Amino acid sequence: MTSYRITLLPGDGIGPEITAVTRQLLDAVASRHGFSLTYDEQPVGGAAIDATGSPLPENTLNACRQADAVLLAAIGSPQYDSLPREQRPETGLLALRAGLGLFANLRPVKTIPALIDASTLRPEVISGVDLLVVRELTGGIYFGTPKGRIATETGERAFNTMVYATEEVDRIARVGFELAQQRRGELCSVDKANVLDVSQLWRERVDRLAPEFADVRVSHLYVDNAAMQLVRAPRQFDVLLTGNLFGDILSDEAAMLTGSIGMLPSASLGASGPGLFEPVHGSAPDIAGQDKANPMAMVLSAAMMLRIGLRQEAAATALEQAVDAVLAAGYRTGDLMAEGCTLLGCRAMGDQLLRQLES
Ligand code: IPM
Ligand code: MG
Repeated sequence: MTSYRITLLPGDGIGPEITAVTRQLLDAVASRHGFSLTYDEQPVGGAAIDATGSPLPENTLNACRQADAVLLAAIGSPQYDSLPREQRPETGLLALRAGLGLFANLRPVKTIPALIDASTLRPEVISGVDLLVVRELTGGIYFGTPKGRIATETGERAFNTMVYATEEVDRIARVGFELAQQRRGELCSVDKANVLDVSQLWRERVDRLAPEFADVRVSHLYVDNAAMQLVRAPRQFDVLLTGNLFGDILSDEAAMLTGSIGMLPSASLGASGPGLFEPVHGSAPDIAGQDKANPMAMVLSAAMMLRIGLRQEAAATALEQAVDAVLAAGYRTGDLMAEGCTLLGCRAMGDQLLRQLES
């Protein structure tokens, strides 16, 4: 029987709770589809700071490198907010992305009909949205140098550098073009080329590659306009290609199109080696340990892992269908609760998903 090694990173806050539910579902779906999974659970983020002093211990990174795929829940907690930057949970996540060379972050955003009323946006605006944010993940202002803080006579200067090299733009743009080919054939590249040199290079490289993908229609938007278009008329988008910082911001904005950030999965991929699959939401420290978390974004991230990371398409679809069925039956966690629905905790939601899988 085919067996895959999964490095499991429960992280902080609600992470361990949603991980437990997801693992149970993964085991169920694997045995039904004729493969098995073994898990190597490792600390990352605040949990790793507590255990080792570092948000990404050497052992954790090595375990990730040896896996067939990495599944992460969430990191971060207010108790670490005052630590120096190298000891913050977020620094561990960035080091993991860089350490695994995960330059392409895919964040699909698709309206879920059963949740259309959970969004703050009008149903007629968000119905039928099906877009994919392709975010560059290991470059740009997140990693650019010089960066830092220096004392001045009157106070301090603090600075970061937004930088992209030709090859960095080309490799993420190719991912965007290829994914557009597999979808509706539309690629919208987002930048700030009216102001930033780095964006001008970005735009030129995207245009330079376009003839290689003659079946893809390319357009460009400035990031401020893209932010507006996302809430004005989001159905116009198929693939949104953008850099690290703009992608961070636009993907949170796009999350609201589905009603809740609690439903959004993501995949981070490199040129080779294991991918990292994680929900877009954070660690929700305010509800941690109370059995209130919504496990569905992590379950859907596990589905992306099965499809993209392990090429187990049927098993991936089974997990996604279980989520759809549970929502259609009116079960909701607190973040999605609406009149006439049944409120469930994290574990009970896991049990319902399992029932659907096994039905
Ligand atoms: C995300 C998060 C991270 C980011 C943080 C936690 C470092 O917001 O994955 O979108 O900014 O990339
Ligand atoms: Mg973010």
